[in-house]
Amino acid sequence: MKKTLVAYFSATGNTRAAAEKLAKEFNADLFEIAPAVPYTSADLDWRDKTSRSTTEMQDKASRPAMKGTCDNIADYDTVWIGFPVWWYTAPTIINTFIEAHDLSGKVLNVFATSGGSDVKGSYNDLKKAYSQYTWGESRLMN
Ligand SMILES: Cc1cc2nc3c(=O)[nH]c(=O)nc-3n(C[C@H](O)[C@H](O)[C@H](O)COP(=O)(O)O)c2cc1C
Repeated sequence: MKKTLVAYFSATGNTRAAAEKLAKEFNADLFEIAPAVPYTSADLDWRDKTSRSTTEMQDKASRPAMKGTCDNIADYDTVWIGFPVWWYTAPTIINTFIEAHDLSGKVLNVFATSGGSDVKGSYNDLKKAYSQYTWGESRLMN
């Protein structure tokens, strides 16, 4: 069991491109954290206080459903978790992903794309929320 997984959520493609680069670098498998209901551009309007992304990110308990889970997560000892920074942190579908899988015994690394925000805040938030797990490095891939 010495395999690496790159698991990513991407609403508009930037994080997907970053995930593909990482997968090449580490000879890793890719898993897309696909939302059961895709985000429309209206959903992503951060200026709109009533948009889906705004309301989800304001509700720390929101857990948007995923289309499916990673059936062979047990095969991996390193998992890179990637996402676009939303409101300075990870989108709540990342919480859905983490809570839907047993990640114990693995090294969890974080990568993100953003409009300028660093990945460190997101990394620290995840590390704090899931302190039972082993957190490794983080990478901003803008
Ligand atoms: C709802 C929403 C909130 C965002 N919040 C931030 C933020 O706090 N800081 C930042 O630098 N970029 C922010 N962005 C920009 C995205 O992080 C950036 O465009 C990212 O590369 C999109 O990745 P994707 O194409 O994989 O979805 C936000 C974008 C959206 C849609």
